[in-house]
Amino acid sequence: MLSREIKERLRGLPTPFYLYDMQLLGRTLDAIRAEADRDGYKIHYAIKANNDERVLGAVLERGFGIDCVSGNELRLIRRLGFPAEGIVYAGVGKNDEEIELGVKEGIRAFNCESRQELQVIDQIAGQLGLRARVALRINPDVDPQTHRHISTGQADSKFGISYREIEQVADELPSYKNLDFQGLHFHIGSQITDMRVFEFFCRRVNSLVEWFSEKGFPLGYINMGGGLGVNYDTPDSEPVPDFSAYFDAFRRNLDVSAVAGGDVEVHFELGRAAVAQCGELISRVLFNKINSAGNEVVIINASMSELIRPALYEAYHEIENLDARPGSLRRPYIVAGTACESSDVFASGRELPELRRDDLVTIKTAGAYGASMSSRYNMHALPRSVYSDQL
Ligand code: LLP
Repeated sequence: MLSREIKERLRGLPTPFYLYDMQLLGRTLDAIRAEADRDGYKIHYAIKANNDERVLGAVLERGFGIDCVSGNELRLIRRLGFPAEGIVYAGVGKNDEEIELGVKEGIRAFNCESRQELQVIDQIAGQLGLRARVALRINPDVDPQTHRHISTGQADSKFGISYREIEQVADELPSYKNLDFQGLHFHIGSQITDMRVFEFFCRRVNSLVEWFSEKGFPLGYINMGGGLGVNYDTPDSEPVPDFSAYFDAFRRNLDVSAVAGGDVEVHFELGRAAVAQCGELISRVLFNKINSAGNEVVIINASMSELIRPALYEAYHEIENLDARPGSLRRPYIVAGTACESSDVFASGRELPELRRDDLVTIKTAGAYGASMSSRYNMHALPRSVYSDQL
């Protein structure tokens, strides 16, 4: 909830922009740190959720590593001073140039998604006269019970090494001359809110760990990916996700004792849960009108170019009129953006207090996959960031 004072300061700023609550970000990251430290879990913040440099600064301050997925992400985090030792690199399609960069940087692990990728990394490392640390991203075939567009660990998905190829991949591992095999990586999907999904997932991983151990592979690295969901429906009631329940699911169900010899590091790659609630997209009402079906349409000056989640996944985001007049009755609105696309609608039939031209409107829970997925469609400028501690 923004204070009256902050709202007054926002009023003079050109819209749209992302507003980051730096204090909430800090509290959220501290909560992750405290819970993860109980078990010595290693955290790599998934930079794809939000690559804002101040956000990354807060992540770096707490000593988290990074999960990256492109050469540009890798270059950015190295420039900001993240140590190579804490960087893991996922992604189904890594370019040769990106692999070369990761090998030269000596990152903690490439999370490899195919047999061919292993061959290419081995070859590139060989040409560079270097060694590369790799983990196998296995597709465990677990239904994350989330939106189909953000499910990544089911049998029919493009991600990871499938059960069909796992045997062959394992058999070939010893033949790579320039790879140091670390262990296993998984990521089953995003916006997962039912902890039973993670419990089931842990049991799957236990059996895979056992299978690899029986084959004689020492596993020092088990990476369980990210996926913890946040409360989009009533964000003010849960600004910091329940990290205790999340890590508890792993603490109770992930049994890495099956691993032969040595210490096993358990890694996580949280993105959304770390940053979603600290960011909101602030825009302004441009126009009101009524469509032929009799619906009240309000056009705000943000669009799918700045926040694509509603258009892409029909995602729900809380919307608030920051200039709501006392006693104003709520009524149903279609809240739409400026883009020339019918899907550019932030909410339909949403009950909101009266919205008038120039009212400031906030779209909440936009800190994750908001700015990082923005585009220049319709030649919009990329959205600016405003930070609560600089207002
Ligand atoms: N690790 C890997 C390998 C991933 O692919 C992802 C997210 C994460 C970690 C972080 O997952 P998280 O903790 O954020 O759930 N654009 C979508 C979300 C796509 C997630 C892609 N992968 C959205 O706006 O809902």
